[in-house]
Amino acid sequence: MFVRVLGSAAGGGFPQWNCNCKNCSSVRAGADGYKARTQSSIAVSSNEEDWLLFNASPDILTQLKSAGLRLQPANNVRDSGIKSIVLMDAQIDHTTGLFMLRESSSPLVIYSTKEVKQELTSGNPIFDVLDFYCKVDWVEINVEAEDFVNIPKVQDIELKFMPLKSEAPPFSPFRGKPRRGDNVGVQIMDAITKKKIFYAPGLASIEEHLLQPMKESDLLLVDGTFWTDTEMIDNGLSKKLAREMGHNPQSGPGGMIEDLNKINGPKKILIHINNSNPILNEKSIERQFLRDNNIDVSFDGMEISL
Ligand code: MLT
Ligand code: MN
Ligand code: ZN
Repeated sequence: MFVRVLGSAAGGGFPQWNCNCKNCSSVRAGADGYKARTQSSIAVSSNEEDWLLFNASPDILTQLKSAGLRLQPANNVRDSGIKSIVLMDAQIDHTTGLFMLRESSSPLVIYSTKEVKQELTSGNPIFDVLDFYCKVDWVEINVEAEDFVNIPKVQDIELKFMPLKSEAPPFSPFRGKPRRGDNVGVQIMDAITKKKIFYAPGLASIEEHLLQPMKESDLLLVDGTFWTDTEMIDNGLSKKLAREMGHNPQSGPGGMIEDLNKINGPKKILIHINNSNPILNEKSIERQFLRDNNIDVSFDGMEISL
């Protein structure tokens, strides 16, 4: 199974267009130890021909351009390697790239929970707008299903979803009143090799029901948004705590590093890194602390074969 990180940043990307924090200024100036990043998304394939896209970031066109021939088999005059799309939530940074795929010559096959579909047909009616272009062929994600489900258009890739306690988008009437299905985590399995990836770009905590699927996976690609709970406040960027935004910070008691240290075996990689996070500086002590704990940080264009 192959996974390509199309984008490794949280909402806003890195640098964020209007941000002059230390990180954004440094990457903009080309400082050593900083890499620019687009908003989070991955693509997975078992045969390197048909790919399953997880989240459609507003940066998708740039991401597909950088992927070059990797995601473009060019079997037809209008064609793409992306055969189906999975949405992990209804956030802007994970869904608005769908507009950029409107030229599709067949309806976009999109998997989401009914809660996410509801947001995308009301507060941010992307699905309704796409109906005027390529149309959407929606497939419901069932977070109660106990077995892996097969993805007909993507050979040998099977998925099992788990509900996550996180947050609905800020525009949702359910922000602050989370529902089961607003956010999902997923185990991605190659049906032949049985290798597994656990993917959760937004993770408020490693809940009890996630421990087993995480322990039995070969690779964890999880929420790396913030280093501390007060990071946005400390940098004068916002008044919100990381945890209020549905993201468990890496450091400190009950943080992601402490939780990940309870899981032995899988390779651990962070994704969805916010531009305020000190780990974006490869020379920082925070980044060294991650290395000391065997936690890697994904980057745009990173590929892993399992
Ligand atoms: C989040 O996950 O909280 C988002 O990155 C916020 C956003 O897209 O603005
Ligand atoms: Mn996000
Ligand atoms: Zn910034």
